[in-house]
Amino acid sequence: MIVNEFILKPYKQLLENGAAAYIAPSNIALVKYWGKKAHQIPANPSVSFTLDHCKTTTTLKFEKKTSEGFSFDVFLEGVLEEDFKPKIEQFFKRIEIYLPFLSAYHFVIETSNTFPHSSGIASSASGMSALALCLMQIEQQLNPNISKEFFNKKASFLARLGSGSACRSIEGDLIVWGTHANIEGSSDLVGVKYPYEVHQNFKNYRDTILLVDKGEKQVSSTVGHNLMHNHPFAEQRFQQAHSNMDALILIFKSGDLDAFISIVEREALTLHSMMMSSDPYFILMKPNTLEIINKIWTFRAQTGLHVCFTLDAGANVHVLFPQSEAIEIQEFIKTELAVHCQNGHFIEDKLGLGAQPIKI
Ligand code: PMV
Repeated sequence: MIVNEFILKPYKQLLENGAAAYIAPSNIALVKYWGKKAHQIPANPSVSFTLDHCKTTTTLKFEKKTSEGFSFDVFLEGVLEEDFKPKIEQFFKRIEIYLPFLSAYHFVIETSNTFPHSSGIASSASGMSALALCLMQIEQQLNPNISKEFFNKKASFLARLGSGSACRSIEGDLIVWGTHANIEGSSDLVGVKYPYEVHQNFKNYRDTILLVDKGEKQVSSTVGHNLMHNHPFAEQRFQQAHSNMDALILIFKSGDLDAFISIVEREALTLHSMMMSSDPYFILMKPNTLEIINKIWTFRAQTGLHVCFTLDAGANVHVLFPQSEAIEIQEFIKTELAVHCQNGHFIEDKLGLGAQPIKI
C-alpha cells in the first residue's frame, strides 16, 4: 500500500551533513487499539490522552555516505544499543519510499527517556514519534516550503509505520486514530486532534502511572495484535470500540465523569479479557494490579471522587483523575497505592500538548 500524498518531488540537492532533534510524548489510550490489518492499519478506532512528562528526546545526526543500504548507530542514554537495530531497520524499510534520503546518509540516533528504561512503560510510542519527527525535520531542511500541517500529518503517518500507537504522539491533548463514522477527519493512516467540544472537566486531566512490574513485556505488542486474528470475540470487540467512541463524543461534551469512568475502565478490562481469551492466552495483570483496582473502587465508593484506572498491555496501572480532585487523590495514591508498586515507584503525569523541536 503506497500513499502518494506523502511522496514529495525528488530533492534538488542533498545536504552534506546536519542534525535534527525532537522531544516527543507518550500517550495513554482511553479506547484501545488492539488488533491490526496489513500495513499497520488499525482494526478499530482509538482515542488517547497525550502525556506531558513521559517523553523521549532524540537527536539525529546525519552525514552523506557512498555505501548502499541503510547505515545507522543507535544510543540509549549514551550506550550503544544493538538490540534496537532490527526494529529501526524494519522501520526504515517501510518508510524509505516516503523519505528517499534514508539510504543516502549514515545516521547517529541518540535517544533518552524521562521515565526509567526498565520501568515497564512502553517507550515505543514516544520513541518512534520522536524519530519520525527528526526525520521530518531533515525532510523540511531538504524541502523548506512544506507546511506545519503537512509536517505533523506526515510525521504521524511515518510514526504509525514504526509503532501504531506512536501516530497519536505528535500533537495533544486528545488524539483520535482510526476511521470513525462520526468523527470528522478521522483516519486509519494518521492520528488527528479530536475535533469537537471538550468540557472543562477534562482540561489538565491527571495520569499517575503506578509501576507494578518493571520487567520486560511478557507479550510484545506485535504478538498481541496478532492474537486478534481468528479471536472468537474479535468482531464484537471492534464494534464495541466504535460504540465506545460514540459514547465518548457525548461524554467529552457534557463532562459526565461517571460515564467517562465506566467507558475507560471497561476498555481496559476488555483489552485484558481479549488477551485472556486468545489462543495462546495470557494474564498480564499481577496480584498488585488487582489490589490497586480494588482499592480504587473502594475509595471511589467511599469518597465519591472521580478516580479511575486504565491499563496498557502490561501490569502497570494508569490512575486517571480530574485536576479539581488532584489533592485528595494524590494523597490516596501516596498512602494507599504506592505500597503496591515496585520500590514504591510511580510517575505523576498529566495531559500534554504534544511534541516540540529542540534547538541544537
Ligand atoms: O503501538 P503498539 O503496537 O505498541 O500497540 C499499543 C497497544 C495498546 O497500548 C495496548 C493500546 C493503545 O491503543 O495504545
